[in-house]
Amino acid sequence: MLNKITVVGAGNVGATAAQRLAEKNLARTVVMVDVVEGVPQGKALDQWQSGPVEGYDTRIYGTNDYELARDSEIFVVTAGIARKPGMSRDDLVKTNAGIVKAVCEQIARVAPKSIIIVVSNPLDVMCYVAMKASGFPRERVIGMAGVLDTARYRMFLAEAMDVSVEDIQAMVLGGHGDTMVPLVSYTTVSGIPVTQLLAADKLAQIVTRTRNGGAEIVAHLKTGSAYYAPSAAAVQMVEAIVLDKKRILPCAAWLTGEYGLKDVYCGVPCKLGKGGLEQILEVTLTDQEKKDLYASAEAVRAIQAVVGL
Ligand code: LAC
Repeated sequence: MLNKITVVGAGNVGATAAQRLAEKNLARTVVMVDVVEGVPQGKALDQWQSGPVEGYDTRIYGTNDYELARDSEIFVVTAGIARKPGMSRDDLVKTNAGIVKAVCEQIARVAPKSIIIVVSNPLDVMCYVAMKASGFPRERVIGMAGVLDTARYRMFLAEAMDVSVEDIQAMVLGGHGDTMVPLVSYTTVSGIPVTQLLAADKLAQIVTRTRNGGAEIVAHLKTGSAYYAPSAAAVQMVEAIVLDKKRILPCAAWLTGEYGLKDVYCGVPCKLGKGGLEQILEVTLTDQEKKDLYASAEAVRAIQAVVGL
């Protein structure tokens, strides 16, 4: 168990993440920071008061002041505005870049040794902003997207085949956008290649639905974007780090030549342990997957250029 984890942003993703962190007993103290007065304080108190019922001793504090976050070992950054129907994640870039920059400067000030997990959108570019603003090495600035995109893909596959979600092994790589790359060649059901169990046209439909997985939920909610699965995915990454599990998860990482890509954040298979990003695994891709991954990384790079850091 860590001493302190801070969640930045007390909106739907942030507050749900804080609740999940407490329920999993991953830290003695969870702090929720937000600019809105009263909301982090009220939600945190409410969550702390679930402790006696749920059986956790995690102390949850809400605040508008980064002092309470001092010396946190991990930060989960969810701050920023969410999409409305019809908006792409990239439409958020200018507003959220300013927010994430300010947040990560505060993080570097109060907890210079911490690990940052970025959740704000557009995800890959916000990771870049976080790395620049904090001055942290790539091992300590990692983005949550692949775990979420893979969870959606696994859920759709499990539904289509009527099997347990637990038995679907898969990875979605690339940027967190319409160009993401579900790796069909590595998708298995308890080790059985999915192509043996599901018709090609059904598989293609699921790949498309996965790519639009976030937008599908925005279209339903109308006033915001998904938060149950995004918070679960971020907390799985935190857990891998806290418990030093060395899990292999698809995460957004700063690439320095891996997969032939350089100076860009992109979703790749990562080993997560107590040091944060401990290794990037380079696996063989089909020619089409390679092409798709490059195209996805170039789409991220184009938006990265817009923030001009
Ligand atoms: C989604 C948003 C959170 O994919 O990016 O639902």
